[in-house]
This record gives sequence, structure tokens and C-alpha cells, in this order.
Amino acid sequence: MLEQDIDHILFSEETLHQRVVEMAAQIDRDYAGKEPLLVSVLRGSFIFMADLTRCITLPCTVDFMAVSSYGTRTKSSGQVKMIKDLTESAEGKDILVVEDILDSGNTLSYLLELLKARKPASIRLCTLLDKPSRRTKPVTADYSGFSIPDEFVVGYGLDYGEKYRNLPYIGVLKRRVYEEDMIKD
Ligand code: IMP
Ligand code: MG
Repeated sequence: MLEQDIDHILFSEETLHQRVVEMAAQIDRDYAGKEPLLVSVLRGSFIFMADLTRCITLPCTVDFMAVSSYGTRTKSSGQVKMIKDLTESAEGKDILVVEDILDSGNTLSYLLELLKARKPASIRLCTLLDKPSRRTKPVTADYSGFSIPDEFVVGYGLDYGEKYRNLPYIGVLKRRVYEEDMIKD
């Protein structure tokens, strides 16, 4: 059972839903009269993206990017590599990047620079979770669901070793689950 690896629940399904509704309402207000292109950063943001998109009432389009960052299972390194690029052109679009969690900022500083070079009309960042205490790159979110302490969380799309993404809530992973792997890494 996945549940036995969870120390405690940080955000329940209801709490997540409420916050997603609020964030979508803010996006609706800010982008009124525009047609944003929502760019999901795979794979962690797929559930947040699906829920957020369904709460946005403006006309919008969606696209997906995938990147990998090498490092240990719980910490990314500075090196980010593009795995899957956008299908559509970004030029002239009002891009809203949708991410699961902003941690060191490595992934997003790479992605935002790459997208900015393609001359979008505007570019903003929407992240469900933010761990500001771990930031090493100067990235700030325009929309942030929850600020969290430096704990490793899983569920609602977020993984540890590709597992736990299917948990409907966000929970703190028990330390014993990754302590053994940390020694190996
Ligand atoms: P950054 O490049 O260090 O900002 O890392 C961002 C990526 O690291 C996220 O997209 C997640 O995939 C992963 N990540 C960072 N913290 C966590 C966490 O607490 N749980 C699960 N994944 C995390
Ligand atoms: Mg991940």
C-alpha cells in the first residue's frame, strides 16, 4: 500500500480543489480578453494541469513540455535537459507555465529562459507548491498555490522514484522511504 509510506497529509483533496478553484478565478480575471496558452511541465504537473484547466472559463489552449534534471531522487542537480518540446509555436502567445513544485528553481529558470527566447507576448508561472527556502536560482511564481517547508512531498502528480503520483492528496513521504536511497546516491 502506498499510504503506509506517508507520514502525514499536508493538503487533502478538498483543500487542493478549493485552492485550484481560487487560482483559476485569478487567472480568469488576469487574462480577461486574452487566450492564454497553458504549458504543463511533465510529468509532475499533469493532475494539477487537468484540474486547473477545467476550472478556467476563458478560451485557452494547452501544450506540454518534458524536461529531466539529473541528480538524486529527492534533489535536482543544476543540469536540465529537454525531453519533449512544445508542439505549437510560442511566438506571440500569452504563455502560462504550469508546474507542480518550485524547488531550487533550476528546472524553471532553464525553461523560462528557453521560452522567453521564442518571443511570446507574455510569460508567467503558475506553480501549485513552492519551497522558497530551497531556492538557488532567482525564480518567482506569479501564481502559487501553497508555500511549503523543506519536506519531500508526494501525491497529486508528484512522485518519488516515479511512484505515488496517483495519491489524490499531497502528503509528506516518510523519511525511511528515501533514507536508504540517499546513502546509495
Ligand atoms: P527544481 O529544478 O529544483 O526547482 O525542481 C523542480 C522539480 O523537482 C519538480 O518539478 C519536481 O519534479 C521535483 N521536486 C522538487 N521537490 C519535490 C518534492 O518535494 N516532491 C516531489 N518532487 C519534487
Ligand atoms: Mg518529479
